[in-house]
Amino acid sequence: MKCRRCKAPAVIDIRRHNAAFCLDCFLHHCREQVRKAIHEYKMFSPEDRVLVAVSGGKDSLALWDLLVDLDYEVDGLYLGLGIGEYSTESGVHTRQFAAERGLKLHEVDLPSDHGFDIPGAAQVTRRSPCGACGLSKRHLFNSTALEHGYDVVATGHNLDDEAAVLLGNVLRWDTGYLGRQHPVLPATPGFVRKVKPLVRLGERETAAYCVLRGIDYQVEECPMAEGNRHLGYKEVLNALEDRSPGSKAAFLFGFIERGHERFAGDAEHERDELGACTVCGAPTPGDVCAFCRLRSQVGALQIEVR
Ligand code: AMP
Ligand code: FES
Ligand code: ZN
Repeated sequence: MKCRRCKAPAVIDIRRHNAAFCLDCFLHHCREQVRKAIHEYKMFSPEDRVLVAVSGGKDSLALWDLLVDLDYEVDGLYLGLGIGEYSTESGVHTRQFAAERGLKLHEVDLPSDHGFDIPGAAQVTRRSPCGACGLSKRHLFNSTALEHGYDVVATGHNLDDEAAVLLGNVLRWDTGYLGRQHPVLPATPGFVRKVKPLVRLGERETAAYCVLRGIDYQVEECPMAEGNRHLGYKEVLNALEDRSPGSKAAFLFGFIERGHERFAGDAEHERDELGACTVCGAPTPGDVCAFCRLRSQVGALQIEVR
């Protein structure tokens, strides 16, 4: 197997591109995919201040590394979710990455800053932990970015993640979510812009990128995500991809180019009806936002138990 760019011996092949690369050309390929995504979808410019949400996993650490390499002004944000050993180790990997490179890292800790953790929230709401977790992440990414004057929040969602979410949204024909599923969510009153610069890279590529760059990441998956619907969608898509390489990318980019616009109206409709949370000021359709409701619900119960 030879490198497509320079003909040296290849270290990785990417079937969807019908290509193989040597180490240097693979790193170049990853940078190019991110550079293309940023330009193609007008994610941000060199003048923008970018806050990258870093979990300590392969995707978000690769993203931070790639954005620094591409010369963007980018700081990190780590959220401590209070998921036992998993969260402790995620924090260690993230802090170590930032310290070794002299990068600025913001930290928000759910238990000490907001008085609850994700396992507690799952118990109280009696719903999947991922629901409370996703809600808390979205809220805190946005509020931290606003508080510190960032123009945009970048997350490490990759091609596999986005294709799995799309499959779930299509299976339920959730038109509001379909209208919001895009590599760029523009800023609206009370919300900063959200971008996903890794949409053109698969999970296998971000893992290989970290290994080849010597980035030490948290390999364990979240212990609370077991049975998560998205894992099932990923398995289905991987089986399809195995039979016909490129089908995952065709599914996702076909939607972005030809499907998304048709659902955009449904998402806008929902945004029209937002006011300000009476507790924290965040945009919300009710009086109190979902994050503040969750915080008071879990906080009250945890105090009762003690
Ligand atoms: P997930 O929701 O775990 O699939 O993660 C999607 C993206 O959210 C990651 O690529 C990160 O950019 C971000 N993220 C997830 N967990 C955290 C965390 N604990 N702190 C900061 N960012 C996170
Ligand atoms: Fe959110 Fe596991 S990271 S439930
Ligand atoms: Zn609130």
